[in-house]
Amino acid sequence: MATDRTTAEVMGKALVTGGSAGIGRALVRALADRGGHVLAVGRDRDRLEAVAAEHPGRVTVLAADLGDPAAVDALVAAVTRDHPDLTLLVNNAAIQVPMRLMHADPADLRTEIAINLAAPVALAAGLLPVLARNPGAAVVNVTSALAVAPKAAAPVYGATKAALRNFSRALRYQCEDEASGIAVLDVVMTLVDTAMAAGRGGRAKISPDKAAAAVMTAIDRRRPESWVGPTWVIRLLDRLWPALAYRLLR
Ligand SMILES: NC(=O)c1ccc[n+]([C@@H]2O[C@H](COP(=O)([O-])OP(=O)(O)OC[C@H]3O[C@@H](n4cnc5c(N)ncnc54)[C@H](OP(=O)(O)O)[C@@H]3O)[C@@H](O)[C@H]2O)c1
Repeated sequence: MATDRTTAEVMGKALVTGGSAGIGRALVRALADRGGHVLAVGRDRDRLEAVAAEHPGRVTVLAADLGDPAAVDALVAAVTRDHPDLTLLVNNAAIQVPMRLMHADPADLRTEIAINLAAPVALAAGLLPVLARNPGAAVVNVTSALAVAPKAAAPVYGATKAALRNFSRALRYQCEDEASGIAVLDVVMTLVDTAMAAGRGGRAKISPDKAAAAVMTAIDRRRPESWVGPTWVIRLLDRLWPALAYRLLR
């Protein structure tokens, strides 16, 4: 079956950013449980080692600060050298910094853009040559409904996610044009019960395991766009009644 073939191929070796916590951690578990090998990336080596210890021999820890462009370049070089069999890149790591722009520290703005946008773009571009050599390869970008309609309190976050959605589409076009066989998947995530969504969302939040399962389904089915949970409502409103979508998420 096509789905089984794709699953087996894509589960080969995966790099998951933000593999130390939240959705990324659940995704590392899900991929390892399916028999894949996962390169788990994050800043906190101890938390990454704890995830790796749950899956002996299946998880490799790659500690890196994705807010540092030099560290991202070093990560691309290390993966290219040591993991030429990489089949899946999941750009999952992100931060959401509540801020009033009037009083914002420019360094904070740049860091959020670096982690949420510059790093996924550089990882995708830098690892394309490796992925292109491996059948069934895919790039997954985890985005958000706030890419469609922004939240006032997180202006940079929404902007980075909107840009990442746009980038995903252009990258998909290029992969199609070059017949590289690399699938580019945008997973528009709903509210998930992680540190990022602490204190908001109430019972509307889904569990990290459910969020990871949605990413796995997107990979299995090679869906260019997946709208997780109620995010489809925002997508529909954005077409039919954008002012309402803006009001709901503002
Ligand atoms: N939670 C939600 O409600 C929600 C909703 C929509 C979309 N999303 C998206 O889902 C994805 C995962 O979010 P989450 O809720 O799982 O977040 P989370 O629980 O806060 O985890 C964030 C992950 O990113 C890593 N990270 C943060 N800064 C980093 C840096 N400078 N370098 C390397 N890694 C870094 C963290 O690891 P270290 O601390 O070890 O660095 C951690 O593993 C994000 O793209 C987010 O935008 C989440």
